[in-house]
Amino acid sequence: MKVIIKHMKTKYTHLFQYGSWALVSGASSGIGKTFCEELAAQGMNLVITGRKESTLMKLKQEWERSYKVKVQVRELDLTLNESIDRFFSSLKGLDIGLFIHSAGMESHGRFEQSSEEHEMELLQLNVASTLRLTRYFSDKLVKRGQGGILLVSSLASHFISPYFANYSASKAYINMLALSLREELRAKKVDVSVLAPGLTQTPMLDAVEKDIDWSKTPMKNMSTLEVVQTALEDFPRKGTIIPGKANRIVSFIGSRVMPEKFGRNNEKMMREAFRQIRG
Ligand SMILES: NC(=O)c1ccc[n+]([C@@H]2O[C@H](COP(=O)([O-])OP(=O)(O)OC[C@H]3O[C@@H](n4cnc5c(N)ncnc54)[C@H](OP(=O)(O)O)[C@@H]3O)[C@@H](O)[C@H]2O)c1
Repeated sequence: MKVIIKHMKTKYTHLFQYGSWALVSGASSGIGKTFCEELAAQGMNLVITGRKESTLMKLKQEWERSYKVKVQVRELDLTLNESIDRFFSSLKGLDIGLFIHSAGMESHGRFEQSSEEHEMELLQLNVASTLRLTRYFSDKLVKRGQGGILLVSSLASHFISPYFANYSASKAYINMLALSLREELRAKKVDVSVLAPGLTQTPMLDAVEKDIDWSKTPMKNMSTLEVVQTALEDFPRKGTIIPGKANRIVSFIGSRVMPEKFGRNNEKMMREAFRQIRG
C-alpha cells in the first residue's frame, strides 16, 4: 500500500495527457532544473539538456534514484547550429509529449558599451535556437496528434526595459512566437504557452546582482519553486503565465496603462540601481 501511495501522481496530473516523457532545455540549473525536479517527483521521464554534461549526469543519477523515473542526458550548446543538428538526430525513437524551453542568457548595462559578440550570442540562444527547437517540436507534436510546448520569456519583455534592451527584445520575440502558435496549433491539439517570470533567485540573477542593487527598486525575488509550481499549474490554461501578483500588476501597468511613462521611470530607477552606471 505504502509503495502505491509513494508512486501515485498527485500534482500536475493534467500534464500526463501528453504522455510520460518531457524534454527540458536549461536543465542544469535555475528554473529549468526545478521544472525537472517537480516533474520527476510526479513520475515524468525526462530528457535533460545543457552544456554542462557532468552536472546533468549527476542530476540524472539523483532523480532516477529518488523518483524512479528514466532520465536521458543530451549535451547541447544552443549557440551552435551543428550541436542542435546532432541533438535533433539523437531524439529519434523517443516519444516526447512535452517540451519546456528554459535555456537562455541575459545581458545588461549601457547598450552602446555592450559587446556585439555577446549580444549576437544572446540572439542565437534566446531567439534563433528558440525558433529551431519550437519548429522541431511543433512538427513532431502535430504529427503525434497531441502535445505541449512551454517557452520561457521574462517579465522584462512586458515593458520598456532600459539597460536590458537586447535581452527584453529577445524575450518579446518569444512571447509573440508562443502566443501566435498557441492559436495556430490549437486545432492540432498542441498546447502552447509562455512563462514570463519576474526576478527569480537563480545563478543568472546571482551574476547580475554584482552590478545591480535591487534594493533601489521595488522588485522582489521569487524562488524557482514558486515560479515553476505556478507554471505547471497554469499550463496550458493560460497563454501567458506570470508568477506572482505584484509581477502581474507591474506587467499590466507597464504594457497597458502607461507604457511610455513607465519606461521613462524605469530608466531613472535602473540608472540608480546599476552600480557602474550611477557613478
Ligand atoms: N532568474 C531570473 O530572474 C529570470 C527572470 C526572467 C526570466 N528568466 C529566464 O529563465 C530562463 C532560465 O534562467 P535561470 O534564471 O534559471 O538561469 P540559469 O540558472 O543561469 O540557467 C540557465 C540555463 O540555460 C542553459 N544554457 C545557457 N547557455 C546555454 C547554451 N549556450 N546552450 C544550452 N543551454 C544553455 C544553462 O545550462 P548550461 O550552463 O549547462 O549550458 C542553464 O541550465 C532563462 O530563459 C531566463 O532568461 C530568468
